[in-house]
Amino acid sequence: MAQLPPPPPAIKNPEIKYTQIFINNEWVNSVSGKTFPTINPTNRKKICDVQEGDKADIDKAVAAAKIAFEFGSPWQQMDASKRCALLHKFADLVERDKIYLASLETLDNGKPFKDAYSGDITRVVGTFRYFAGWTDKIQGRTIPIDGNFFCFTRHEPVGVCGQIIPWNFPLALFALKIAPALACGNTVVIKPAEQTPLTVLYAAQLFKEAGFPPGVVNVVPGFGPTAGGAISSHPDINKTSFTGSTEVGQAIMVAAAKSNLKRVTLELGGKSPLVVWKDANLDDVVEWAERAVFYNCGQMCTAGSRTYVHEDIYEQFVKKAKARAQAKVIGDPFDPKSEYGPQVSEEQFNKILELIQDGVKDGAVLECGGQRYGTEGYYIQPTVFSNVTEDMKIGREEIFGPVQSIMKFKDMEEIIARANDTKYGLAAAIFTEDIDTALTFTSRVKAGTVWVNCYNKTSISSPFGGFKMSGMGREFGEYGLQAYTEIKNVVMKTPVKL
Ligand code: NAI
Ligand code: MG
Repeated sequence: MAQLPPPPPAIKNPEIKYTQIFINNEWVNSVSGKTFPTINPTNRKKICDVQEGDKADIDKAVAAAKIAFEFGSPWQQMDASKRCALLHKFADLVERDKIYLASLETLDNGKPFKDAYSGDITRVVGTFRYFAGWTDKIQGRTIPIDGNFFCFTRHEPVGVCGQIIPWNFPLALFALKIAPALACGNTVVIKPAEQTPLTVLYAAQLFKEAGFPPGVVNVVPGFGPTAGGAISSHPDINKTSFTGSTEVGQAIMVAAAKSNLKRVTLELGGKSPLVVWKDANLDDVVEWAERAVFYNCGQMCTAGSRTYVHEDIYEQFVKKAKARAQAKVIGDPFDPKSEYGPQVSEEQFNKILELIQDGVKDGAVLECGGQRYGTEGYYIQPTVFSNVTEDMKIGREEIFGPVQSIMKFKDMEEIIARANDTKYGLAAAIFTEDIDTALTFTSRVKAGTVWVNCYNKTSISSPFGGFKMSGMGREFGEYGLQAYTEIKNVVMKTPVKL
């Protein structure tokens, strides 16, 4: 795998500049006067208090976004080429403040600075530049219909988009929700996750600095059932996009249906199979499989959390996977040597440790790890289980932590059946030198993304989303834009057949 150049030094104590609610390009306190703390996961200490938005604040933000969207507003009247320039300007400002933003992400989320810098914040810039390029290419068609008529379609913005995001890639997912919405001319109300509001709040100020008109982007930090619930059930929000747990995704769809049938796209959980065929290059694949499940401390919707290994190479694979996991360097995410930091929160930390206990109880073999690391933060040792089966809890449920579950298989029919034996369908991968094996697997596995001889290779230009209960709709690329426009069909009577 290609190695990235080392990032510049981090800012270890980044100053916290914005902790309020951002509506109409202004910073305001919550209507209720309430605040909530955001916690440093390396030591469980409070970083700062943030204004806690709920329904009343969402109502204010939606009213601002609605006015900003109306016919005749500066945003509605803006040329597409100017919208393009604004999206690029925002990307320029993120680039200018990249070290600061990556440092703030590390402080609030706990991910290694080098990942925040070279991964998350790099993606934010790429996402905005990619969608900036689309602003003046969102176009309809002329359609030949019978008779003396001229028929064409317009791809119009949907309106106010209410976006809800999680904590695993706070600013990168913010960008993914905002950039396509703005490229199409929508306005946005977004709620960051309560665990990680800080980078999103800072980015709000950059929209103002870039010159976006008031009300186009509004950011309301707060909790799920209150602020999030107010978004999914709001009668003046026309579209909602959510990334997070499958359970909450279902609740959002119900709320959307019951309120105003707002358009819904969902990017939810996964239990993705990574299949190691008997002819795979063992050293190479052990490394891919390790990164597939341990990157971002396992807090990835695409985590390759079911590692299926062919019986001919199973024993060797388990030995090598264990050695690799044991060699991983855990520690302070600001230390360039650290390969991974703590889990994001106490809730996640406890959930993962409980699932590890379930694995032991259910009879999986704990090869290494399984315990808390250190005494202060939410660190968990890299954990490897072998002899896992799908009837065990760790073989079925999304763990969202640094836990590799290795399973043994024999042939193609068996692996297809087992890979598909899950309610999820986000991603899958196979490692093999044989093209027929690869093609058979890619066509029969039920997943939104299938990788061959690689893992987690996502690109802003290619679609991403889930089959089954992993979600609805697609994000990234031209496919991702479709969710942010309504198609209007226009038919005009003409004097003759044109
Ligand atoms: P969650 O789905 O509860 O939270 C994600 C976002 O949804 C947050 O902004 C939260 O405030 C909001 N939310 C929560 N309840 C809501 C509601 N009733 N209405 C509207 N918005 C609501 O995820 P949580 O509790 O942080 O993590 C639980 C599990 O979810 C994880 O262990 C993992 O399995 C999965 N997850 C998946 C993610 C993904 O990338 N697909 C990201 C985060 C979590
Ligand atoms: Mg939750």
